[in-house]
Amino acid sequence: MKTLRVGVIGVGTIAKVAHLPNYAKRADVQVVAFADPEVERVEGIARQYAKDHNVEKPTVYKSAADMFAAENLDAVSICTPNTSHVELAKQALDANVHVLLEKPMSVKLEDADELLAKANQSDKILMVGMSNRYRQDATVLKRYVESGALGNIYYGKTRILRRRGTPTGWFTDLAISGGGPLMDIGVHALDLAWWLAGTPKVKSVTGIMAQGIGNKNKLDFNRTWRASSAGNENNEIFTTEDLASAFIRFENGFTLQLEVSWALNGPQDSALKVELFGSEGGISLDPLAYYGVKHGVLTTETPDVAVGDLYNRELNHFVDCVQSGETPCSTVQQGRDVVEILAAITKSAETGREVLL
Ligand SMILES: NC(=O)c1ccc[n+]([C@@H]2O[C@H](COP(=O)([O-])OP(=O)(O)OC[C@H]3O[C@@H](n4cnc5c(N)ncnc54)[C@H](O)[C@@H]3O)[C@@H](O)[C@H]2O)c1
Repeated sequence: MKTLRVGVIGVGTIAKVAHLPNYAKRADVQVVAFADPEVERVEGIARQYAKDHNVEKPTVYKSAADMFAAENLDAVSICTPNTSHVELAKQALDANVHVLLEKPMSVKLEDADELLAKANQSDKILMVGMSNRYRQDATVLKRYVESGALGNIYYGKTRILRRRGTPTGWFTDLAISGGGPLMDIGVHALDLAWWLAGTPKVKSVTGIMAQGIGNKNKLDFNRTWRASSAGNENNEIFTTEDLASAFIRFENGFTLQLEVSWALNGPQDSALKVELFGSEGGISLDPLAYYGVKHGVLTTETPDVAVGDLYNRELNHFVDCVQSGETPCSTVQQGRDVVEILAAITKSAETGREVLL
């Protein structure tokens, strides 16, 4: 098998937590280059990576363009803030490399359409990092659905409702993030429920958004996701919503209710919940269950499977697809279709009207 020369664009928190450690586990991957404007901080990460894994230090470039000009790469991970995703992914496809692009694919539908068109013309893989599809428990639920055990799926609910869990840094700056919890965690909740339900075509969307708490009510000792990049460490800029909710109708008759918050004065529950209800059975993620009827009585099955290491499975899937040429589980078209729904939720919230698609 070929040893892949891999670059990482944007070496912040998700790169450190998910991409680097899992590339390092692959014998067929060499992480050879980093591209990030925060060169000094990232040089430190490059040195540490080399030491931890006993490999040559990845070369640090101050931009993706510099990296592509100097390196002959097979693949890149793009782990930068949301609004930079499309431009960097286009550059990567122009440089003829395979791409693992962090979620959300984009924050605007026009940009997603442009990237989809470009990806369709390329023979390189563009995989959108919809990490929760790679949870082992989600994989098991997908098997239940695909076996027909739910019958006709006609209603679903998905949510992540944190009492407090606003990420620090650029996430709350609309100009960089393109949206609050909707773009950050709503994309995960929506994608997982929609994928489990069989990726139906959207028909109409009603959404609301609110900034109920914002950067008020600062807490001591609050554990949350922290961006590694400099700026907005105390969420001084808070121009996004902190709550989003939507009611989404699909052409096949399925309806999905979505609720996500970074901060909400209710019980703490930062887990991703999905419930799908069908004519023959229902499923739930967290708690993991299948609700059916057997031998004339109601039965509840609780599959014995852990969440597992989703990032490890995601990164392995990307590398395996690059090596084999197989199409990834999370396709560019699906990444674009999720952005279509996210954009419609935003538009509906702004206009106060249902959006027909
Ligand atoms: N899949 C998941 O579960 C998951 C979890 C958290 C974050 N994310 C996604 O990962 C991305 C990064 O989030 P993060 O928390 O790591 O942020 P971060 O701020 O910690 O890291 C972003 C990095 O990108 C660099 N950067 C900014 N603009 C750049 C550019 N034009 N070119 C190259 N580098 C650039 C920054 O200097 C920084 O090092 C976001 O899109 C976020 O939505 C995904």
